[in-house]
Amino acid sequence: MARRNLFDSLSLDIGIDLGTCNTLIYVRGKGIVINEPSVVAVERGTKRVVAVGSEAKRMLWKTPGDIIAIRPLRDGVIADPDTTEKMIKYFIQKVIPRRWFVKPRMVIGVPSCITEVERRAVEDAAYKAGAREVKVIHESLAAAIGSDIPIHEPAGHMICDIGGGTSEISVISLKGMVVTSAIRVGGDEFDEAIIKHIRNAHNLIIGEQTAERLKIEIGNASPDKIIEKVEIKGTDAITGLPRRLEIDSVEVREALQEPINQIVEEIKRTLGQTPPELAADIVERGIVMAGGGSLLKGLPKLIAKETGVPVILAERPLECVAIGAGKFFETMNSQDGSLYGSLNI
Ligand SMILES: Nc1ncnc2c1ncn2[C@@H]1O[C@H](COP(=O)(O)OP(=O)(O)OP(=O)(O)O)[C@@H](O)[C@H]1O
Ligand SMILES: [Mg+2]
Repeated sequence: MARRNLFDSLSLDIGIDLGTCNTLIYVRGKGIVINEPSVVAVERGTKRVVAVGSEAKRMLWKTPGDIIAIRPLRDGVIADPDTTEKMIKYFIQKVIPRRWFVKPRMVIGVPSCITEVERRAVEDAAYKAGAREVKVIHESLAAAIGSDIPIHEPAGHMICDIGGGTSEISVISLKGMVVTSAIRVGGDEFDEAIIKHIRNAHNLIIGEQTAERLKIEIGNASPDKIIEKVEIKGTDAITGLPRRLEIDSVEVREALQEPINQIVEEIKRTLGQTPPELAADIVERGIVMAGGGSLLKGLPKLIAKETGVPVILAERPLECVAIGAGKFFETMNSQDGSLYGSLNI
């Protein structure tokens, strides 16, 4: 046992947040070493990888015919397992020192709605990239560990991770997931709602990056006294010509209403399924929000208003899943690692 502990303390522990929008890697003792978009640019036909991460994202929607930029994890599912594997390998090999004498242990946070086949694909990719041990865990458990929530206490904690492709809501007590639910609605859906609204209301076609910029700059979930405006450019749906348009924050809020309501309803439903004693703890401690979607202006306020429960934003909402995955082994005992929150289905 003592030898194993020594081995474990020397071990390179790597936590990975395999997000549909962003992939982050945390290395114990070093912190976050990779934070890049989950995008891969490949050559059409041969599928040869041309670029990964930030460089590949710059090519998204702007590639010449023979190169395609792919988001292999769109909508919270592994839409393209081969490319996902290439992406994981690329990032991991970037951070693992060459000829490292101990192979790393890897913990990967993924949405709880992934299928068994998808989970295996992730695990395989990590082994192929050089892991000695791989654990795939729910991203909300990782987010809780990474936000320093005292999950070992016999008390209920709710964490709500709103990512790009999924929103995952979990109640954790005694290192275990008591209730967990995930919906395939997140920041991407917000962008799509904005695209749809602008097309329907103004006959203007805009791209995903413009929609995301609108959401981040003037998007909000709760009414605000200050009305902000932004000029956007797109293609007129009727004439096919480029055109400018001024959009204000009230319109963006209306466009976002539907996907936001779906998330609020899911949080309410999860609270409804929580055993009363744990629900009482949550009312006292509040709901912790994480993920890029939680940064949408006014969203924590709206959720607090709709549920009657206080809402706290995690200290590092975009990084807590990777940090928590990296700290998983030191947080969990070796006996409980396979029981709590890890997807050993
Ligand atoms: N300030 C902001 N306001 C609103 N939305 C934001 C902000 N910053 C980032 N986002 C959105 O957050 C989403 C990405 O969040 P995150 O990196 O947590 O997702 P992910 O972990 O890759 O996805 P998932 O957890 O679904 O697999 C994107 O939709 C992005 O537009
Ligand atoms: Mg995420």
